[in-house]
Amino acid sequence: MCAHYEITLHDVSKTFGKKTALDKVFLKIKKGSIFGLIGPNGAGKSTLTNLLATLSLPDGGTVTISGLDAISQVKQVRKKVGITFQDPSIFTTGTAWDNLFIAGKMYDMNISKIKERGEYLLKEFHLNQVSNDLVGTYSGE
Ligand SMILES: Nc1ncnc2c1ncn2[C@@H]1O[C@H](COP(=O)(O)OP(=O)(O)O)[C@@H](O)[C@H]1O
Ligand SMILES: [Mg+2]
Repeated sequence: MCAHYEITLHDVSKTFGKKTALDKVFLKIKKGSIFGLIGPNGAGKSTLTNLLATLSLPDGGTVTISGLDAISQVKQVRKKVGITFQDPSIFTTGTAWDNLFIAGKMYDMNISKIKERGEYLLKEFHLNQVSNDLVGTYSGE
């Protein structure tokens, strides 16, 4: 609810049958911060990540992302959320530009916005020189 918190979990619970994966989770993550969630196997990290990505719904509590309710405003939340899996994460038979273009299109960006954002990211990650090479040829995908 507080404007400077980008992500807020309030009293969130999630069960799978008799198994309680999340038991009354309260969490506030500040806008612009980098947050790491660590814990032993089975702690509920993936369950919580799935809720944030709107891939599943909690049994109780509220999840707020960027001022939006992740339960009733799923469509709007999805425009705000990006998720990269460990593997597979990118289209290795395409170039960096192909990957950026596809990602931009998925977020409804127009060509000039994709170009602007893409150029910024390529520069930021020192990939300008190889932006037209196939990602599969990079050192470490
Ligand atoms: N789809 C599911 N069906 C049944 N139990 C599940 C399911 N997903 C997760 N669990 C259970 O919920 C708990 C938390 O799992 P998970 O979120 O995958 O933990 P982590 O990612 O921290 O290893 C575990 O006990 C797990 O077995
Ligand atoms: Mg996991």
